[in-house]
Amino acid sequence: MNRRYRKTIIAGNWKMNKTPTEAKALIEEMKPALSRCKWCEMVLCVPFTDIQNAVKAARGSKIAIGAQNMHFEKSGAFTGEVSADMLKEMGVKFVIIGHSERRQYFGETDISCNKKVKVALAAGLRPILCCGETLEEREQDVTMEVVRKQIKIALRDVAAEDIKKVVIAYEPIWAIGTGKTATAEQAGEVCSAIRDCLRELYGARAARAITVQYGGSMNAKNAAELLAQPDVDGGLIGGASLKAADFAAIVDAANQ
Ligand code: 13P
Repeated sequence: MNRRYRKTIIAGNWKMNKTPTEAKALIEEMKPALSRCKWCEMVLCVPFTDIQNAVKAARGSKIAIGAQNMHFEKSGAFTGEVSADMLKEMGVKFVIIGHSERRQYFGETDISCNKKVKVALAAGLRPILCCGETLEEREQDVTMEVVRKQIKIALRDVAAEDIKKVVIAYEPIWAIGTGKTATAEQAGEVCSAIRDCLRELYGARAARAITVQYGGSMNAKNAAELLAQPDVDGGLIGGASLKAADFAAIVDAANQ
């Protein structure tokens, strides 16, 4: 973390978990512990069906509500999809774009991510743009190339004045849901390379103001070490964001 130049953001990605009633209960449970949070921003990216209850439950707290996906068109014949304006009107502040599960199971590409990032920003939503390599790519030593390509395509034509609103989440696919966390050095190295890439695209001032998160089996035990890396400005947390005590412990680590 480097609090001097950028915000630390701890975000939960609930994935396809929790009914609206369960969402309300979990946020109510989280609220007292999260009120200790001084330095970082907190976001919970919930299923579409939980948004209304989550926004209501989070009212009066420092928790912002995010979505996990959106469509890039404004409206139209796209059965089953949800637009940026719809999310915005529900009180959503952040939206995850290009999560590896969406790339893997639902055909998301760098090009569709680029469309979504631009539309999200135009609607006043902050995109959490995900990138990360497979195990095979890491073993072939092409991690940096893969991540740079993902970032460069997804941010194409994103205006300089908008880039600070974008959050980048580095999530090595082999670390997601596997309990196999990247070492702090691995996470720090790639997050730093991402910042180098952002510097090339937007200049030093903008690059140092952008929040770059790590995601992949981040938990109460390893959070402090990961967040101690100067270029790791927070986390995108799956499993551990479904338990109030675990999520609060990660937020506490970010407040040290
Ligand atoms: P886990 O924390 O469960 O590994 O999930 C990480 C993730 O995919 C967050 O988007």
